[in-house]
Amino acid sequence: MNNIVERINQLKKEKNAVILAHYYQRPEIQDIADYIGDSLELSRIAQKSEADIIVFCGVRFMAETAKILNPTKKVLHPNPESGCPMADMATVEGVKKLKEQHPDAVVVSYINTNADVKTVSDIIVTSRNAVKVVKSLDANKIIFVPDQFLGSYVAKQVPEKEFILWKGFCPPHFNLSKDTLLALKKQYPDAKIAVHPECNTDTVEIADFVGSTTQIIEYATTCEADTVIIGTEVGIHHYLKKKNPNKTYVFPQAADYCGSVHCCDMKKNTLDKVLEVLEKETNEVILDEDTIQKARVPLEKMLAIV
Ligand code: 13P
Ligand code: SF4
Repeated sequence: MNNIVERINQLKKEKNAVILAHYYQRPEIQDIADYIGDSLELSRIAQKSEADIIVFCGVRFMAETAKILNPTKKVLHPNPESGCPMADMATVEGVKKLKEQHPDAVVVSYINTNADVKTVSDIIVTSRNAVKVVKSLDANKIIFVPDQFLGSYVAKQVPEKEFILWKGFCPPHFNLSKDTLLALKKQYPDAKIAVHPECNTDTVEIADFVGSTTQIIEYATTCEADTVIIGTEVGIHHYLKKKNPNKTYVFPQAADYCGSVHCCDMKKNTLDKVLEVLEKETNEVILDEDTIQKARVPLEKMLAIV
């Protein structure tokens, strides 16, 4: 392992490469990353990167977003099979149909969409900025794609607007039930509960805090409670422990998606694969020029707001 890490660090220097990793990545990948973040932070870092090569350790839509925002760079995705099941639930045809049915609506797409769906979206949001972005829009009617649960959460915060929700969902977060969290609360009565807005509505409603990955980390490491029950992907435990080792972070077991709130796709990137793409410069993210141009517009609109 040390040899792999040394070789990765050497190649990074030789090739002017940078490694970006989402908090749900394996601990050993987080440890070799130059930057760790949620989807919003990583987009910003990718957009401004001056490296020649960006190795993106996240799921495919994240690596695509890096390419769209900084198209002259070589973006390498360690495992191209690392996709997002929720992103795959939305289609261009479906979005176009909804637009025809609701010509006065604005298409707000979660960053968890594939590049082609971004090309037919008016603006992109992440879990961190969705409420703020939607509030800033003039339109009163919103087609929200693809996460129905993030969409419902935003709709509650912005009751003055009408929402048409795509029926997508994140399997790992969806499977985390309110009862699982309430049972943990009985075990740890003084604990606070923090969840990601991709969780189902019943689960979100009983939480003390709802936020993006980074926001959960901020809350859990700084709130008054010594114990925090975490309703999101177990990969963030590594960062939580580094940031504030004095607290207890309790991760629930969800129904049956790989045994817990565990994103199997996020774990498909491994240290071996990072080394391989750095050595051979394989698995480059390739998008056609038209897709890049069109998908960049709603992404840049979002980044101009928050
Ligand atoms: P964040 O915006 O919190 O990084 O979430 C991305 C994601 O895929 C959560 O499942
Ligand atoms: Fe997609 Fe859910 Fe995995 Fe995030 S945790 S990448 S939304 S499947």
